[in-house]
Amino acid sequence: MTVTVCVGSSCHIKGSRQIIVRFNELLKEHGLEKKIELQGSFCMERCGEGLNWQIDEEPITSSSVEEAIETFREKVLKPQTETGEGK
Ligand code: FES
Repeated sequence: MTVTVCVGSSCHIKGSRQIIVRFNELLKEHGLEKKIELQGSFCMERCGEGLNWQIDEEPITSSSVEEAIETFREKVLKPQTETGEGK
């Protein structure tokens, strides 16, 4: 699984760098840093919509860093940690 975060200028201003830092921490916390690849990308051409990122080919737009982290927990961490630990 690959998580790609837009680090174009518009998303950067909204906090995409912080998203990457937080995602990275969460992956480490759950021992998933080898399983899930985290990468940055250039502008995804959806600047006006919010913070843009994607899980594999699925485009995701979050309105805040917090919301992105919630979505990440829900869609990336949860399916990987079936036992429900690490809440
Ligand atoms: S800067 Fe992120 S979509 Fe354009």
